[in-house]
Amino acid sequence: MCSVVGYVGTHFSRDYILEGLSRLEYRGYDSAGFACLHPENNRLLYCKAKGRLSNLIEKCKQSPIDGYVAIGHTRWSTHGTSTEINAHPHFDCNKTLSIVHNGIIENHHDLKQQLIKTGHTFHSDTDTEIIAHLFESLILTHNTFKGAVVDLVNQLRGAYAFISISQDLPDQMLLVRKRSPLCIGVGDGQMFIASDVLAFADKTKKVLFIPDEHFAIVKHDMIELYDFKGNSKPLIMQDITSDWQAHQKNGHEHYMLKEIYEQKRAIHATVDFLSTLSPDLWNHIDISAEQIRNLKTISLVGCGTSWHAARIAQFFFETICKLPTKVQLASEMRYMHFFKEPANMHIAISQSGETADTLEALRMVNDFDIPTLAITNVASSTMVREADGFILTQAGHEVAVASTKAFSTQLTALYWLAHRIALERGLIEQHDLKNAEQDLFIIAEVLENGIENYKRTIQKVLAPKYAQFNKSIFLGRHISYPFAMEAALKLKEISYIFAQCYPAGELKHGPLALIDEQMPVYIFSVQDPIIYQKLVANTQEAKARGGHIVVFAFEGQDELCSLAETSFVLPRVKTLLEPLAMSGLMQYLAYEIANVLGCEIDKPRNLAKSVTVE
Ligand code: G6P
Repeated sequence: MCSVVGYVGTHFSRDYILEGLSRLEYRGYDSAGFACLHPENNRLLYCKAKGRLSNLIEKCKQSPIDGYVAIGHTRWSTHGTSTEINAHPHFDCNKTLSIVHNGIIENHHDLKQQLIKTGHTFHSDTDTEIIAHLFESLILTHNTFKGAVVDLVNQLRGAYAFISISQDLPDQMLLVRKRSPLCIGVGDGQMFIASDVLAFADKTKKVLFIPDEHFAIVKHDMIELYDFKGNSKPLIMQDITSDWQAHQKNGHEHYMLKEIYEQKRAIHATVDFLSTLSPDLWNHIDISAEQIRNLKTISLVGCGTSWHAARIAQFFFETICKLPTKVQLASEMRYMHFFKEPANMHIAISQSGETADTLEALRMVNDFDIPTLAITNVASSTMVREADGFILTQAGHEVAVASTKAFSTQLTALYWLAHRIALERGLIEQHDLKNAEQDLFIIAEVLENGIENYKRTIQKVLAPKYAQFNKSIFLGRHISYPFAMEAALKLKEISYIFAQCYPAGELKHGPLALIDEQMPVYIFSVQDPIIYQKLVANTQEAKARGGHIVVFAFEGQDELCSLAETSFVLPRVKTLLEPLAMSGLMQYLAYEIANVLGCEIDKPRNLAKSVTVE
């Protein structure tokens, strides 16, 4: 998704801006741009390119513009296709003021019509360009710069983080934040600005996260912070904890492969972290032990892979805590009727802690005064700041768009949390919580061994074989159904193979019509004997129609394996941990299939890592 980077200081900054953008490249984008003020005459200079950041870097080399005040942007198209004209930065009529923007201006159409009537000329199809023109007109009608900004933010609807530089105020930069993240790394006589702290994590130790609905006027040695009414606000600095060095590929061909292999360590780290937190957990998440004991329901919300983790976790909370659990997709929940339930706790699950829909769903629940908990992987994220409490998964930075270690650590944290809640409610003993932790350690081993045992066969035989099919069906039942959804998502997002998931029991209500010899049917087993038998029956239905069966099974499930062309067999595990046990192998198979097809695995087309627009 779009990223913004900026610099105000006493050094040439183009290299920093381009490097910052490249660090945030993993988030997904389709064009890029750079603008700066000429170091001597303050003239606004810029360079834009369609496609990869490397195109912009090449173009910048040909026109070596640089300056002490600069902004950069990677754009993920929302309004207008991916073209050089639509790439940011955007300008006012005289090209003296420049804007880079992350987010969406919802009332851009009305504002544009008004501005056109008053003589403004637009060049792009973007919503962003409206900000530049509106700001241009407001600066003319207000006595103070601050007054113009207050008026500007009052007129803009939507979610946005933008940075503006201007020839007329050459030593400063304007930063505005509503909903979308924006932060300032405070250096010695220089300020590093970005939508993600990662862009400058090794440049300075102090960061100021611009609070929601605030703006900042930034010079090389000074920051003024204001709320949207123009009231001055104190600066609350935080220490930077992210480590840029930990974000390298470490010899792996792709980040996704590296991250698949980091899962064992990440599961261990998450369990160790939670175990240490355990005695003080309720204080940490700002909910009382009494509230936990009195809980009547749990609600889970997320998007994409995090929603799949939530769907799986529903089985944890209902089985271990005996609490009815509702799971919602954030993008749907926001526009449904909301019924406040008594003694309910809402858990928002999000790797990034920034996904716009999940964040808005969290904010909606916060308005109802219900305890909220964010489970996220990013300590500096907005959800951490806005939920009542938070639990950090210990996956480490996840770069590949397709989530792997974040998913497995979400499941780990949710499984552990279900036990911790059950302990508080007197349903289990302390030693049961310890056993659950041991079970998670065992699963981490099973997950990794699963990959190792099948690695060669997948590389040499199975990935080339399954890369030849351009469509597939994924089936699961009970807890393996949401896992099958995650498996289908993994395959389609990185290999572009069409992958449709169904609950296996629904096969005969329609999808069976799709099955023939050209249709691989991936089946994810469970150990529960009754559900297993149903799954065997569903597999037979698919087999009888010529379906090409691939099963992920557990030891002793010979009947299921006998129906399959390909079977992966894992040791028997705790039933609720079946998805976690299968996840490494499933991710690795999808990865190798995409690799055979030569796909751009870490940055699949059209996708973004952190979806900060609705
Ligand atoms: C994007 C990513 C997915 C992720 C989803 C939710 O679509 O590509 O991998 O699952 O957003 O992201 P979150 O950060 O909220 O978990």
